[in-house]
Amino acid sequence: MNKPEKDVLILGIESSCDETAAAVVKNGREVLSNVISSQIELHKLYGGVVPEIASRKHIEKINQVIEEALEEASVTLDDIDAVAVTYGPGLVGALLVGVAEAKAICYAKKKPLVGVHHIEGHVSANYIEHKDLEPPFLCLIVSGGHTHLVLVNDYGEYQIIGRTRDDAVGEAFDKVARAIGLGYPGGPKIDKLAKEGNSNAIKFPRAKIEGAPYDFSFSGIKSAVLNYINGCQMKGETVVEADVAASFQKAVTDVLVEKTMLVAKEYNMKTVAIAGGVASNSALRQAMEEACKKEGYTLSYPSPIFCTDNAAMIGVAGYYEYMAGTRHGWDLNAVPNLKIGQR
Ligand code: KG4
Ligand code: ZN
Repeated sequence: MNKPEKDVLILGIESSCDETAAAVVKNGREVLSNVISSQIELHKLYGGVVPEIASRKHIEKINQVIEEALEEASVTLDDIDAVAVTYGPGLVGALLVGVAEAKAICYAKKKPLVGVHHIEGHVSANYIEHKDLEPPFLCLIVSGGHTHLVLVNDYGEYQIIGRTRDDAVGEAFDKVARAIGLGYPGGPKIDKLAKEGNSNAIKFPRAKIEGAPYDFSFSGIKSAVLNYINGCQMKGETVVEADVAASFQKAVTDVLVEKTMLVAKEYNMKTVAIAGGVASNSALRQAMEEACKKEGYTLSYPSPIFCTDNAAMIGVAGYYEYMAGTRHGWDLNAVPNLKIGQR
């Protein structure tokens, strides 16, 4: 893609789940500000995200978060070229807050409105710190709601090769964490506890799906962990939580890395990226690093702050959409089950 003659500034807005976020991104690659107001402490009380509470908090926070993002970037709304906003997938009430806010700004300031797919945002987070990264590449998307292997054939062009048949990886992390009493959100807590455990202590299953070598299934391993814990309790044996965490994490990362390498080889991709909240998992990063090194592939993953939900990634994806001519009208709506590549 040709670089524009003048700098292009995108205001990104994200409110699909439990983070209210705004960011200013210059020319699709430089993050001038990245403000995130997390609701985690609030939802912890309930062991997971409560949609109604999330929507209300977004309404309370969104104006302040946008003001901070503009201030930190030392720009005003007049300097912005377009507003990019997540319009799906996610919680409908939460998404609506961001979409309505973006429309109001665009209407008042006569700016173009660009709707962005949340997961395409996660993939685009890789462009921030890897200035040389350009499509085509293979991306493993691992978040709280998604597990996909996609070919990024060009900016904004995604081809799904594999997907989960049941639970997303992040969901499995969160459920296993709850079972061993770690609380919400489970992923980072399992990551930390696993460092003290033996990853070979317990043999958890690595699911294979007949006739679909690139698809995933994580509901079996989640049940296997719960059965293991129940079994120990019935036999009066103590459960070593760190070993459970490490063994579960190893089983999951083994499958993720194996299938990613399989697709990379099959589709002749020399560059691999990881995206989404679980991409900040230290064991996954390490295992993928080793596998890519062995095969001579280049690996890209964002810093943890750009892996979990943020608006910088929406600004980046929005930039490429904006440059490709994508413009949404005042009828842009929240689409809770928006598919990758759907416009
Ligand atoms: O991408 P994300 O912030 O939100 C969604 O779009 O879903 O992902 C959140 C998920 C949660 O399930 C969380 O437990 C998981 O990412 N996660 C992790 C880690 N950090 C966040 N999972 C494993 N290890 C981590 N370090
Ligand atoms: Zn996300």
